[in-house]
Amino acid sequence: MQRISTIEAMRAEVRALRGQAAKGGNIGFVLTMGALHEGHLSLVRAAKQSCDAVVVSIFVNPTQFGPQEDFAQYPRDVEADCAMLEREGVDAVFLPSVEEMYPPGATTYVDAGAISERLDGASRPGHFRGVTTVVAKLFHIVDPEKAFFGQKDAAQVAVLRRMVEDLRFHTELVVCPIVREADGLAMSSRNRYLSGEERQQALVLQKTLNAIQSRFAGGERSAEQLIATGLYEMANEPAVRVDYLRVVDPRTLEDVDEVEVRALVAVAAFVGGTRLIDNVVLEAPL
Ligand code: PAJ
Repeated sequence: MQRISTIEAMRAEVRALRGQAAKGGNIGFVLTMGALHEGHLSLVRAAKQSCDAVVVSIFVNPTQFGPQEDFAQYPRDVEADCAMLEREGVDAVFLPSVEEMYPPGATTYVDAGAISERLDGASRPGHFRGVTTVVAKLFHIVDPEKAFFGQKDAAQVAVLRRMVEDLRFHTELVVCPIVREADGLAMSSRNRYLSGEERQQALVLQKTLNAIQSRFAGGERSAEQLIATGLYEMANEPAVRVDYLRVVDPRTLEDVDEVEVRALVAVAAFVGGTRLIDNVVLEAPL
């Protein structure tokens, strides 16, 4: 596995991988901020299955963190990450420095507009602008046929779909299911921040989504009622502070009043100082 830290070397490696690959040189790309877990590895495995070569990026992107957020503390463990990626048979890992991605004095951003201000974008101003900027830069460098993202970050997927459509990137976005711990907690690099007690409290996110899903399965279609069910469940864990709980259109992230065919239920909550997110898609039976 090649470890690459400059844009120039990454471009050369992509050219080489395309030349080598037997079936037409399809490049699959998995973008991460490291501190890898099974959720990330599920994306790598999906990429391995449908692409000729797989590139993974590890870059803790400063522009998607707010000034009071955890950029400095964000877990970094490049050696452990690279060992995992090597075992998965990844062809190349891109590990650029901040200066490589953002030359001194850089002022150019990619902004997907109103959708970037919904859900996490409302709670974390500028977050999605940072995400679209870095993903556009990384797509520009690796130019993959397919890029793999997790449904765990459903709002991120919606924002990136908008960007890919608007900027006419040729990259196909492939969305992979949420990988959970045995007890249902969605895997996240930030789960490392949780104390033993908080780890237990964090299960309320999944319980909340399950309660909403059961109510939906029982025929409830009103978003207000579904949210009320969820908030009732969240209240069982008063130490956990709800940031948002919404029922939205999965493409636009706009609130819906009634679930017609499909809706995204997204939750974000603070468990101690750690902000966790989770979601479920409700689908009405045909
Ligand atoms: P990061 O949080 O490291 O996540 C990288 C990718 O892994 C994302 O597509 C995310 O949705 C996916 N992922 C994380 N946890 C998952 C889980 N439990 N199940 C399935 N997939 C999961 O998301 C980012 O980094 C950054 O915003 C990035 C896109 C790299 C831009 O900086």
